Amino acid sequence: MAVDRAIGVGLLGLGVVGTGVAQTLLRKPSVLAERIGAPLVIRGALVRDPAKARALSPLPFPLTSDPARLLEASDVDIVVEVMGGEHPALEYLEHALRAGKHVVTANKEVMAKHGHRLRALAQQLGVQIRFEASVGGGIPIIGPLQRDLLANDITSLRAIINGTTNYILTRMANEGLDFAVALRHAQELGYAEPDPTNDVEGIDAAYKLAILASLAFHTPVTPADVPHEGVTRLRTKDFQYAKELGYAIKLLAISVKDDAGLSARVHPALVPQETLLAKVDGAYNAVEIKGDLTGTVTFHGLGAGAQPTASAILGDVVNVARALCGHAQPAAPPLSTPSKPAVRLRGLADLVTRYYLRMSVGDQAGVLAQIANVLGQQQISLASVIQKDADPAAKTAEIVITTHPAQEARMQRALEMLSKLPVVKEINNVIRVEPV
Ligand code: NAP
Ligand code: HSE
Repeated sequence: MAVDRAIGVGLLGLGVVGTGVAQTLLRKPSVLAERIGAPLVIRGALVRDPAKARALSPLPFPLTSDPARLLEASDVDIVVEVMGGEHPALEYLEHALRAGKHVVTANKEVMAKHGHRLRALAQQLGVQIRFEASVGGGIPIIGPLQRDLLANDITSLRAIINGTTNYILTRMANEGLDFAVALRHAQELGYAEPDPTNDVEGIDAAYKLAILASLAFHTPVTPADVPHEGVTRLRTKDFQYAKELGYAIKLLAISVKDDAGLSARVHPALVPQETLLAKVDGAYNAVEIKGDLTGTVTFHGLGAGAQPTASAILGDVVNVARALCGHAQPAAPPLSTPSKPAVRLRGLADLVTRYYLRMSVGDQAGVLAQIANVLGQQQISLASVIQKDADPAAKTAEIVITTHPAQEARMQRALEMLSKLPVVKEINNVIRVEPV
């Protein structure tokens, strides 16, 4: 269907990202029109509170709190959803598709939980749903997985895909900044989710990993398949010890496919300082993909913020609009081959990795031998030990151990046994160690 009129855009949400999208559309209308072959016009924006003062003033389009005003408007061709949250965003997206609108969304929660169904629905209805902004902010990563890497058998995906936590960890590592202060700065910069629990507990990264793994491994992966741990247990001293040992600490999202099956997980990890991932700082994200043909490719760029995210959204909008103007567009591939049953993901228990343990122990003879004995009973051997006097008055010392590769289930049993040793006052942190 070719159009010889303006392409209408309905914005669902006018917060950090919605404002970035609107500002860009208003700032470069002729550039976008030239690339599309028709002008883009914002018909209106859905917000919770139309009376609230807005960063964009005066607004050249109306605000509404009634979704039907945009979802059913005959002059809206593309619905851009930048509200966030599962509900009512999911219902609005379905409504838009059923009303024949093309949809562009930045919503990782909805796409991770319902993406497979929404994409199938869009396909059935002959409309497009695009979601480049849902992972990695301004980094093109969904498009390459849906298109450019399709000839590969992907074996692993390791990523830093939460800008808020990467910003927090960078400031804690480089400046010794307190966690709460770093989080507040990330919120002020517009990186954090409306509820930052999703960022700091690894939930946002698990949503994004579910989306990436679904595309990379051609099977539906849901957030329930992705065990996640956040960054709230990390302390400044973990960064100091990690540095001493030659590592940075990053919140990693990892998905691996090998002979034993497919696995996915999100947790903080010690990452060797010489690797690219260790050097990804601030609100930057990176996605490292290993394919049988391409080898390792790494996508790197700003993973959060109004403008990088607007770049991804508007890239999708331009592509949909070009198709509306009669420029040929390849159909997006389905999330998995419909006839193929979904793959069951392996749990964490049989993961084999190295570990970093930080413990407060009684400052007395024979402590290390008792700890080594417990680890030995679980066939876990020590790779290095650092011991410092932490609190002479309390007669406790801090001990930091790294291990050789060990099975997760054995490490969990060892931790339980260690916690019962009278000489172990507290197990302060356990962090997995990633290989190069
Ligand atoms: P935000 O600043 O909190 O903005 C949300 C907007 O949606 C606000 O304008 C709000 O209205 C509106 N809204 C929320 N719930 C609504 C409801 N039930 N009915 C009507 N309007 C509603 O959020 P954001 O940071 O822009 O994020 C938006 C989406 O982009 C989320 O899915 C997020 O995960 C994703 N994303 C964000 C970033 C980033 O860097 N921030 C990057 C990539 C993707 P009011 O203004 O009246 O409150
Ligand atoms: N809160 C998210 C982050 C926004 O910090 O990465 C980008 O998806």
